[in-house]
Amino acid sequence: MKAVVVVGAQWGDEGKGKVVDYMAASFDYIARCQGGHNAGHTVIWNGKRFILQLVPSGILRPGKIAIIGPGVVFDPHAFLAEIDALAKAEIDVKGRLFVSNRAHLIFPYHRQLDQASEANRAGGKIGTTSRGIGPSYEDKMGRRGLRVADLLDTETFRAKLEALIREKSAVSEAAYGQPIDATGLVDSYLAMADRIRGFVADTAAMLWRAADEGRSLLFEGAQGTMLDIDHGTYPYVTSSSATAGGASTGLGFPPTGISDVIGVTKAYCTRVGEGPFPSEIHGEQGEAIRQKGAEFGAVTGRARRCGWLDLPLLRYSNMINGTAWLVVTKLDVLDELAEIPVCVGYKSNRKRTADMPAQASGYDKIECVYEKLPGWRKSTLGNDTLEKLPAKARAYLEFVEKQSGARIGMISTGPERDATIVPPGTRLAALLS
Ligand code: GDP
Ligand code: IMO
Ligand code: MG
Repeated sequence: MKAVVVVGAQWGDEGKGKVVDYMAASFDYIARCQGGHNAGHTVIWNGKRFILQLVPSGILRPGKIAIIGPGVVFDPHAFLAEIDALAKAEIDVKGRLFVSNRAHLIFPYHRQLDQASEANRAGGKIGTTSRGIGPSYEDKMGRRGLRVADLLDTETFRAKLEALIREKSAVSEAAYGQPIDATGLVDSYLAMADRIRGFVADTAAMLWRAADEGRSLLFEGAQGTMLDIDHGTYPYVTSSSATAGGASTGLGFPPTGISDVIGVTKAYCTRVGEGPFPSEIHGEQGEAIRQKGAEFGAVTGRARRCGWLDLPLLRYSNMINGTAWLVVTKLDVLDELAEIPVCVGYKSNRKRTADMPAQASGYDKIECVYEKLPGWRKSTLGNDTLEKLPAKARAYLEFVEKQSGARIGMISTGPERDATIVPPGTRLAALLS
């Protein structure tokens, strides 16, 4: 069985879109398992830039089947806007894009509640994407959410949504002094039902049938390990399971069927939004990396915070996900540096510790221990073989490999598809052959 999970090893934006687009050439099905249109996965291909939010990055490869699984929270407006944009770019999605009938719906009041909750949060903002992701998952876990199947059941949808709006409006009024304005809401959703109907399927059954027939499956994670609801820097996280296990629950695909887990990490580190970031670089050097790496959010345009590669975090991520193979992206962004600090360990109360704090406040007591590696000061942009990399860039990667406990099976040296190195003879190379 070839069923491979690709997860973000850090706080998201590691380059999963580029990696999944590259890998998708060697897979039949590409599926999103969790998150929603808070994700922004950039693919640059033939000089054209696509930012995929709900639709799996594999859609850009002709003939591939793309699936939005039951674990995703689904905003029909965002979905239709995305397929319209794909149609404009002459990407035909007909007959090869499917949405789970069990995916939970996002409504405009989820966005309103997201914003109101951020504005009123004791302890300060999380810095969400304001897409209504958290409130929609709250309704799912509260067992009051409505799903794609409910939207298609047009005879009962109106009554169900109207009852829900009454409840949500009372809660919002009590908590934030803001009732929910639902004028035209039911009709606007019903108007989208017909356009969406043709995409809806029981995607868990589809994936299993495909696996049974010997098809290969690629599961595209969104967000990253440190944004995972259980294992990330809670409460500065997203509301879904962004680790490898989330692929299984989010798709209804058994864990025993997953053959490989691949973690994607930048050669350094970024995070967007609030929350702990032990290896964050403040000041000019952080700004230089932000500019060179174009570190601005694909969805919100927000400046991403930049930091050095954090190896304790990467080891933690590899442990939680069971990552055997890593993809290191954005190596080229470090090209100009004379030396590159890497966080090799944490110190707490002047003692080395291997533990990741359970509380966000625990990170305040942590200090990174850095080792400085020599920079290569030569362009690696677009390099497509290991041999083309400067010796010091190779040494940097070898150091990361040794310290992280996982093998490096792919290196990205630029945003374009062909700016990719896959050293031959590895398991990852075999998955792509
Ligand atoms: P994702 O959310 O994990 O898919 O990542 P994003 O698309 O949000 O952010 C990654 C950004 O880095 C995008 O703008 C990519 O085009 C870009 N990118 C990906 N790989 C590389 C690389 O190796 N080098 C450079 N310079 N940019 C890259
Ligand atoms: P991709 O898939 C980076 C962050 C937000 C915020 C926190 C909660 O592109 O890697 P949410 O709107 O999910 O409730 O916000 O999570 N966040 C991301 N950061 N990449 C993402 O997705 C993200 N999705 C959410 O910035 O800090
Ligand atoms: Mg992104």
